[in-house]
Amino acid sequence: MKGIILAGGAGSRLHPVTRAVSKQLLPVYDKPMIYYPLSILMIGGIRDILIISTPSDLPQFRRLLGDGSELGIRLSYAAQPQPNGIAEAFLIGADHVGTDNVALVLGDNIFHGPGFPAQLRRSIAELDGCVLFGYPVRDPSRYGVGEADEKGRLISIEEKPAQPRSNRAITGLYLYDNEVLNIARRIRPSARGELEITDVNRAYLERGTATLIDLGRGFAWLDTGTHDSLIEAGQYVQVLEHRQGIRIACVEEVALSMGYISADDCYTLGAKLGNSRYGEYVMTIARAAGATA
Ligand code: TTP
Repeated sequence: MKGIILAGGAGSRLHPVTRAVSKQLLPVYDKPMIYYPLSILMIGGIRDILIISTPSDLPQFRRLLGDGSELGIRLSYAAQPQPNGIAEAFLIGADHVGTDNVALVLGDNIFHGPGFPAQLRRSIAELDGCVLFGYPVRDPSRYGVGEADEKGRLISIEEKPAQPRSNRAITGLYLYDNEVLNIARRIRPSARGELEITDVNRAYLERGTATLIDLGRGFAWLDTGTHDSLIEAGQYVQVLEHRQGIRIACVEEVALSMGYISADDCYTLGAKLGNSRYGEYVMTIARAAGATA
């Protein structure tokens, strides 16, 4: 399976912060926002990932992450000149996807919860059509909203409905078979001029091959799109990391635990991060895994 991280957009709700810096490069506590969705794809076993952003922001993503080889993965980059909609990722990324299945994740989405890695790997292994992840929210009218039958089959999907049929927001992680490339080519821009991911998902619903997995109430799907939600997401990460002594979405740790890099490689990456606490953590876990340095 290939991966795509969509990290463009205007970030207008975070102005003026995002006038000169991409939203997805802003810190969520101790690391850039894009580490969170990147670690999700890596945990899913996906090692060939396309990062899509605006032409002006792409160089900074490249500077941060390079070609991915240090993490034992392959990263490539493509531009989305205008925010023409999430589904445009499949037009821009068609060559990257080739004949494979694909996981798309939005660059500003944070997922954290027990059992999620196993759930994700199972969904990827058993993929037939598309898999969406639903999360109960207080204000579903702000989101794409899905409804599933008792077997988890998606039975309705609506974009920002005035009267939502469920409280399940569709989150920004989507698994698709290769048919998504054809579907994305066929959809037309919505009234707001965007290629809507909801229209792609509706095509799968009509074929009867869309699954909606419930992330449940113990799970954290965090928003980062406004000044308040960004700081709240940072506080969530800070509380867990301080309390448990772990790091959420530490990409070096994920690469180590997935066997993408050796303990010695991991130690070298930590040492390069100078004297930050993050760097110290990376060196500590590398030593615990047998790094000889
Ligand atoms: P949005 O939250 O819809 O938009 P935004 O991030 O630009 O923020 P704002 O509403 O404040 O202007 O986008 C969700 C995610 O998808 C975000 O990571 C940006 C990304 N995105 C693109 O990269 N290209 C697009 O065409 C769209 C619509 C979104």
